[in-house]
This record gives sequence, C-alpha cells and structure tokens, in this order.
Amino acid sequence: MRITGETDVVFILCDPVAHVRGSDILNRRFAAAGDDVAVSPLHVVPEDLPVVVSAVRSMRNVAGFGVTIPHKVAVVGLLDELTDRARLVGAINFVRRSADGTLTGDNVDGAGFIAGLAADGLSVDGASVLQVGAGGAGRAVAFAVAGAGARRLRIHNRSPRAAEELAAAVAAAHPACDVRPATSADPRETDVAVNTTSLGMRPGDPLPFDVAALPAHAGVAEIVIQPRMTALLEAAVARGLPVSYGRSMLEGQFDAVRSFLWPDGGSPARRD
Ligand SMILES: NC(=O)c1ccc[n+]([C@@H]2O[C@H](COP(=O)([O-])OP(=O)(O)OC[C@H]3O[C@@H](n4cnc5c(N)ncnc54)[C@H](OP(=O)(O)O)[C@@H]3O)[C@@H](O)[C@H]2O)c1
Repeated sequence: MRITGETDVVFILCDPVAHVRGSDILNRRFAAAGDDVAVSPLHVVPEDLPVVVSAVRSMRNVAGFGVTIPHKVAVVGLLDELTDRARLVGAINFVRRSADGTLTGDNVDGAGFIAGLAADGLSVDGASVLQVGAGGAGRAVAFAVAGAGARRLRIHNRSPRAAEELAAAVAAAHPACDVRPATSADPRETDVAVNTTSLGMRPGDPLPFDVAALPAHAGVAEIVIQPRMTALLEAAVARGLPVSYGRSMLEGQFDAVRSFLWPDGGSPARRD
C-alpha cells in the first residue's frame, strides 16, 4: 500500500486495539475499488476520547473515523451532527470530518447487516423475523430490518426492558412493520432468525434460540464475527438451513461507509 500526502486518512478509534480487523477489511476494499484511502486503528482510552476527537477536527487529510466499543455511545456528545439513523440507534460507528472540521456521526451497522444478508442470499423483505438481542448492534439491526421491509419483527432479549424499549422505538419509526417484544425466543412463524447477542463468542455458550423448532424454510443470520462458524450456524447448516455470517455484516458496511464519508456523489482520491 502506498500512503502519500494525497491519501485520504481514516482512523478507527478503539480500546483495546489488538482484536481490530475492520481496518484490514476496509484497506483491502478501498484498494480494490482503486481509492487512495488508508485506514489505521488508533488505541484511544475513554478518558482521552474528547481530546482525540477534538484534534481530528484540525487534521485536514482525515476523511473521518470509525469507533468501536467502548466509544460508540460516548462519542455522540462530542459531535456536531448525527444522521437520522444514528439518532434512532443512539450509537455511532462512523464519523465524517467535513472540510471545515464539522463532525457528523452515522451508524452503518444496520446497512451492513442488510447488505451482508443479501450477499449470503437472504432477505427480510416481507419476512417474519425473530431477533434475539437488543444491545448496541441489535438496535441497529432492528431498525434496519424494519426499514428493509420486514412484515413482522419479534425481539427477545435476556433483559426484557431493552427489548420492550427497542420494539417501541422501531414500531414508532416503521409503522408498516408489526414490531413487538417477545418474552421467549419462539422460533415458530419465523422466516429469518437473527442472533444479535454476543452468545457464540465463547465455546460452550448456549444457543440464542432453538434451531430445531424453526420452520424448514427459515434462514439464520449471525452477527458474531469470531468464530466465523458459531454453534448456532453449525446447528443451522446441519439442518440444511441457509445462513448469513457475522463477517458478511462487517464486509457489508463498506459501501455504506464509503458513501457516508464521501457524500453527494463525491469519491475518495484515486490511486494513480
Ligand atoms: N458483524 C458485525 O459487523 C458486528 C457489528 C457490531 C457488533 N458485532 C457483534 O455483535 C455482538 C454484540 O455486540 P453489541 O455491541 O451489541 O454488544 P452489547 O451492546 O453489549 O449487547 C450484547 C447483547 O447480548 C446479550 N447477551 C450477552 N450475554 C448474554 C447471555 N449470556 N445470555 C443472553 N444474552 C446475552 C445482551 O443482553 P442483555 O441486554 O440482557 O445484557 C445484549 O442483548 C458481539 O459479538 C459483537 O462482536 C458484530
């Protein structure tokens, strides 16, 4: 990779830093698109976030930055503007730096999820969807699922309050979708079942829902990235059900990141 004074720079602010792979994915995708963009993780602890965000305003070759845990909510108060979807989700994962230093926050997790589903041959358009989990990523997924034309959405979460609040917010934003909290992860009447919890990251985690009880036509989507083949996906594949991977959601964010950081038909500088 060539990085020169003409290169647009993008950071990913995170703590801890060692696990970050999004920079590698984005660098590969920008290079494949012929864009002169370089993405680097920056290890920023929470108490330093305000000073780092403020400094980015003065960095004129920085197009923006991504944020991961634990900065996704804390960064909201440090920005000038939020997109509508970021305001709904209540968390940010990308920030655009405009030429005058203005910082605008967006959340492309949901767009990435829908694009990842499509890349794996699944769709929620007209579908009945079961979502388990109502954490940060789960919020983004629920708004995106309803926005992508799901007919029915049931949200179950270990802590019921989060599912109730999320279902009410999604129903208000997308009245055409029948959205309700669910006291159990009942997989019947489901076309697409989605795990947005962190269950599956550790060996021995219980499955978020009963794959055996899903209808024979149902698809199963996972947002856990590592391992790629979670126990949930293993169970779904063993039943012959179509699946979508957490990695697909991450890859699916590329187009949304690119069009957000370089808006209005603009595009990153080209490599020569
Ligand atoms: N593929 C991608 O592009 C992408 C993007 C973002 C995140 N992720 C992944 O998504 C997962 C969740 O991330 P997040 O940021 O949403 O985390 P989060 O905000 O901490 O939410 C965690 C969710 O998992 C639930 N949960 C955790 N432990 C559980 C358990 N033992 N039993 C049942 N439910 C449990 C939580 O329920 P409670 O509310 O009851 O605690 C909550 O719904 C992580 O694996 C993360 O790496 C993937």
